[in-house]
Amino acid sequence: MKIFNINLLKLISKIPFRQYSGEYRIYHFPGFANTSNKDNVGEKKQKKLHISKTLGAASGISDTLTAQNSAPEHAIKSSPTKKSFTNLLLEGTTVVTNTNSKSPSGECAEKKVEKKPDKSKCLRAVPRLKWVNELPEDCRAKKTDIPTVKLRDGYVMPMFGLGTWLSPSAKVEKAVKHALKVGYRMIDCAHAYENEEAVGKAIKKSIEKCIVKRDELFITSKLWNTFHDPHLVMSACRQSLCDLNLSYLNLYLIHWPMGYRAGDELIPYDACGRVIGTRVDYVETWKAMEELVARRLTRSIGLANFNKHQIERIWKIAKIKPVVNQVECHPYFNQKRLMAYLKKKGIVLIAYSPLGAPARPWVKKDEPNVLHDNLIKTIAFNTGRTPAQICIRYQIQRGNAVIPKSVTPSRIESNFDVTNFELSDEEMKIIDKLDKKIRRVSLSMLANHPHYPFNDKF
Ligand SMILES: NC(=O)c1ccc[n+]([C@@H]2O[C@H](COP(=O)([O-])OP(=O)(O)OC[C@H]3O[C@@H](n4cnc5c(N)ncnc54)[C@H](OP(=O)(O)O)[C@@H]3O)[C@@H](O)[C@H]2O)c1
Repeated sequence: MKIFNINLLKLISKIPFRQYSGEYRIYHFPGFANTSNKDNVGEKKQKKLHISKTLGAASGISDTLTAQNSAPEHAIKSSPTKKSFTNLLLEGTTVVTNTNSKSPSGECAEKKVEKKPDKSKCLRAVPRLKWVNELPEDCRAKKTDIPTVKLRDGYVMPMFGLGTWLSPSAKVEKAVKHALKVGYRMIDCAHAYENEEAVGKAIKKSIEKCIVKRDELFITSKLWNTFHDPHLVMSACRQSLCDLNLSYLNLYLIHWPMGYRAGDELIPYDACGRVIGTRVDYVETWKAMEELVARRLTRSIGLANFNKHQIERIWKIAKIKPVVNQVECHPYFNQKRLMAYLKKKGIVLIAYSPLGAPARPWVKKDEPNVLHDNLIKTIAFNTGRTPAQICIRYQIQRGNAVIPKSVTPSRIESNFDVTNFELSDEEMKIIDKLDKKIRRVSLSMLANHPHYPFNDKF
């Protein structure tokens, strides 16, 4: 059994999985998966302990922190997929072994690394600081029935959109094009998803084909954790604009309150495999985000994964108040308290992982899956809908925006078909009661980062 060290992982992090052969084992960073006590840690924990040691504690922030948990929560087997290593690492998975370690083609991993496009060219081209109507004259606005919400800064946001996390570049272009054809108008993107260029191509082509006008679109991107330093915020935003082929964003979010050391790597690790954090205060980052609005690089700014205390800190100093907080929200984690708080503040909750992120890399076989929940299935049966439609409709009726991800055309269509039915009060109450306080995206390996958001109750 061969064990990659962390530096090798970093080196190969851009290489699609399929370029490695044989059986793979995927290990989670300690404490990185679901923190719920419903999640069993599993017997494999002990068995795989040596991996954790090999990679170092792989937990915490290098200079300030020590590992919270000392063993991988669980290990899963996986066959090669097109997901990049970086995506897996990003969401908490360490790809460790290839049991036969040989590449069948005998190709050198480095050969396959795609040459990065010259961003500097693109960056020079991007900053058109006017609102640009990128619409061909003869394009007519098409009506969709998507409910909208007025944000506190006056802009209007659709309450429904397409998620793009873990959508491989090769598939996301088609998915976004299809979604725009079907009637989606909001696309949720992020630099860290490593697919913004493909999303950008889809947007450009759809505008050129008159499927949609730029004015009708609501495009969100997110500032990644390595760009929290105020002087990096503008170039990070411009990078996303460049990749997305846009002259402005509708919404730009701070992706997480925790900052990482600046640099080329999405997740910088120290020699012991621990994430290297920064002490940059997100309050300072927020001030730089406000500057983006002044420069018209984005219309609105907001937060993701912030808790009440952190929002309060920003609220106190903000010249421009955050318009949204994008957080995990589904029937098993319904965010009732945070939702009530945000409502009072006039901040819209955008529900991410509304289907419970059933295909995230660290999903466990035997964990409760919201789409297979008996009550959700019964409501779906009674209303002639799919469980996914019930979960999506649930958020819309609660007044939350919602961004289910799919790259499957039939699902993209059916997930969109949620505007012509209503859940009864009784059905809403039944779903409310399904809350299990199960967080699927916890990044708990960072639980001792000074700005880790999920140690507070909400
Ligand atoms: N701010 C943050 O930190 C953060 C964190 C997580 C997610 N997000 C955003 O929220 C979006 C949605 O969350 P998510 O991607 O974690 O999970 P999700 O939307 O809850 O679930 C997506 C998964 O469900 C499958 N799916 C979609 N429609 C389905 C249907 N009708 N029936 C059965 N399965 C279906 C998809 O498969 P296929 O694609 O194969 O169809 C995909 O595997 C993300 O894509 C991202 O844009 C933000």
